[in-house]
Amino acid sequence: MDMETTRRDLLKGFLAVPVLGTLLAALSPFMRFLKPTIKPLNYMQGPDLPKSVKPVIFDLSLFTKPFDAQAFNFIQVNKEYTAIGTQIRDIPGFAIKLPSGDFAVYSRICPHLGCVFNFVPNPDDVAKGYNYRPDGPVFACPCHLSVFDIQKEGKVVSGPAPRPPRKFVYKVENNQLVITDLETGGVA
Ligand code: FES
Repeated sequence: MDMETTRRDLLKGFLAVPVLGTLLAALSPFMRFLKPTIKPLNYMQGPDLPKSVKPVIFDLSLFTKPFDAQAFNFIQVNKEYTAIGTQIRDIPGFAIKLPSGDFAVYSRICPHLGCVFNFVPNPDDVAKGYNYRPDGPVFACPCHLSVFDIQKEGKVVSGPAPRPPRKFVYKVENNQLVITDLETGGVA
């Protein structure tokens, strides 16, 4: 290796420093353009997942027989790129005891276009109002008449909804039904 080559390599090395510096300086604003809630230079910041404020708790004595139901509202806090920095969501839900002894705990936000649906225990009422006769109690949406079978994981049995409603995460402990979170993927 001659002297000339060594000097050229050295100069190339020096030139790379400002180029790298410029790229690094541009990276932070670019990352914040892609994800406005990221903190400066914190490239490894995790996803902005919603956080639940506190669990919703029901005493099990409220669910003595199949299809006993309780309506509730679940509060979630979401990060937002605003002056306040967060948005509070109040998500309506239903907790229903199934004949199996399990619980169906669902968001009431319809996955079609976001209306709040009802729990309709009487199949005759569903047949009259929703163009569909189910075998048992269902969730039914008044906006475009989607019907969800709560005994089949919220399966859509009638109407335009593309999928079942979102489920809540819950546990049963100390004679209580404790609803702790909404499944990921959004509110509707
Ligand atoms: S919003 Fe519920 S069926 Fe359309």
